[in-house]
Amino acid sequence: MKMLFLTIVLSVISIFPANAQPVNSMKDIHSFANTHEIAVKHLALDLTVNFDTKTLSGKATLTLDNKKKTKQLILDTRGLEIDKITLDEKETRAKFTLGDEQKIFGSPLTITITPKTKFVTIYYITSPTAGALQWLEPSQTAGKGKPFLFTQSEAILARTWVPCMDGPGVRMTYSATIHTRPDLVAVMSASGNSGTKSADGVYKFEMKQPIPSYLLALAVGDLEFRPLGIRSGVYAEPSVVEKSANEFADIEKMISAAEELYGPYRWERYDLLVLPPSFPFGGMENPRLTFATPTILAGDRSLVALVAHELAHSWSGNLVTNATWNDFWMNEGFTVYFEHRIMEKVYGRDYSEMLAVLTLKDLKEEIQSIGPSSDDTKLKLNLAGRDPDDGMTNIAYDKGYFFLRLCEETIGREQWDAFLKQYFDGNAFKSMTTEMFLEHLQKQFKIKQNKELSSALSINDWVYTAGLPANCPNPQSNEFEKVKSQVNAFMNGTPASQLSTQGWTTHHWLYFLRNIPDSIRLEKVIELDYAFYFTRSGNSEILCEWFLRAIKSDYETAYGPMRGYLMNVGRRKLVKPLYTELAKTEKGKTWAKQVYEKARPGYHSVTYNTIDGILK
Ligand code: BES
Ligand code: ZN
Repeated sequence: MKMLFLTIVLSVISIFPANAQPVNSMKDIHSFANTHEIAVKHLALDLTVNFDTKTLSGKATLTLDNKKKTKQLILDTRGLEIDKITLDEKETRAKFTLGDEQKIFGSPLTITITPKTKFVTIYYITSPTAGALQWLEPSQTAGKGKPFLFTQSEAILARTWVPCMDGPGVRMTYSATIHTRPDLVAVMSASGNSGTKSADGVYKFEMKQPIPSYLLALAVGDLEFRPLGIRSGVYAEPSVVEKSANEFADIEKMISAAEELYGPYRWERYDLLVLPPSFPFGGMENPRLTFATPTILAGDRSLVALVAHELAHSWSGNLVTNATWNDFWMNEGFTVYFEHRIMEKVYGRDYSEMLAVLTLKDLKEEIQSIGPSSDDTKLKLNLAGRDPDDGMTNIAYDKGYFFLRLCEETIGREQWDAFLKQYFDGNAFKSMTTEMFLEHLQKQFKIKQNKELSSALSINDWVYTAGLPANCPNPQSNEFEKVKSQVNAFMNGTPASQLSTQGWTTHHWLYFLRNIPDSIRLEKVIELDYAFYFTRSGNSEILCEWFLRAIKSDYETAYGPMRGYLMNVGRRKLVKPLYTELAKTEKGKTWAKQVYEKARPGYHSVTYNTIDGILK
């Protein structure tokens, strides 16, 4: 009995050492790093960008905190060629081994150190096929004149360009010196960005706040800067920088709204970088410098919810970080919730409720497509042995959002907001597991002691059970009710040209298109196009929805423009549904394969890995 007690006490102590993050003692199933023995406190990069060989080469110096006096440091790498490794300022040669390459996870780099080793310097070169890096030809950029490089490190791609402890549960500060062509500008997720070219092509950066490796980011290209406010601005290629500045003009309002909700912005500056169209995501929350797709430049600011989303990550994700990728909803669900709150504050409840209705539709469709009894529809994921990217579906985003919205509606907005504000502040620069969060929540509102409250929330159903719980909030939008009546009118014979669509925004149109029944006849599809020119829309989201319609109805006129779209846009969320729909028929699949053969070399690995799976 005494033994048992002692074991429990000891294990509790070792999981929660005083003043330390409990997660460091937890094994990250997607990382080889020995984080339970030793910590990397700082990373100093010195890298040369070579567009001819498509490589980054140079060195990474890691500052260690060898808490357990271990004699080895294990880092994550994938496809890196290691030239040599040295220890401390004297740079004595270190012994190291690079383990066998495992698909997705790469090779553990085991370096022999001493308990006193303070610095380890790794001299290395990346592979031309490094998963995080996309090297663009001038023809793939807006300006068509100069090459472009960008990184995408989340989820476990940082190891393809930096030897590091590549898990979200550990953090480090970083500094970097980047050498490139003097006619290009380098920017990073750090301070030191300026948007002016340096005569010698050398750029220096520093990130003073500790961040996880998946937030390491670099881009190099023909970039200019436009300020948007005192602490914000946008970087983009010269030909899109004005358009970008106009699109993001509300950014200061969004930052203020976010601060009013959940406390001060802790990263000093918030800038955006608009990438070429092959960027595989809508946005990536790289600290101080969100990376964004140009497909949100609709000209009317109608797709800026994405900016609210990436900005919100400055709290949910970048300040309080999911401890492992199984806790991904701690990043994305919280961020979608926060995004909706920012949108409500800046643009009003009618607007944010339209977004919420679309989110619920997305969630229901995602659960159907994954399978309502699949473990992948639980908030807490089990990604053991899998590429985290495979399990990162809309569930984390949308089911996460509705769970937090349910908390808000059940507990009351005032108390809930006070709790969240305190949660971000009290856990800043720390990692968070699902279980730690639930414990905070249950303690704060005494949920376990309150039968009514615990059954109203049914936490277990949301977090650890598949499918959509019965108590899912049901957003209402009057605007969308009006749209629905127009869909009905059209399906019942009112000519497209006579529908009442005055004042409709992008989201009205998206809802309209998504509610058209699949049984619609081709003549009516053509009629819609004549009335509203969807095939020629300049809005990437409307185009995606319209092309889906066109595929389902075999509307041939749209195929030429759709081909152009698939060749140009590399954002996974916009091309994946089209390839998926095309692959449902023999004819569609043949056409898709022809297009894809030409488009694939222009896609980032994140996108082509997904599309390969669909068209194989
Ligand atoms: N952090 C994600 C992007 C990501 C997720 C990269 C998983 C790698 C692995 C980013 O914040 C995001 O969610 N982007 C969305 C934006 C949207 C939900 C507004 C996107 O790219 O579509
Ligand atoms: Zn996100």
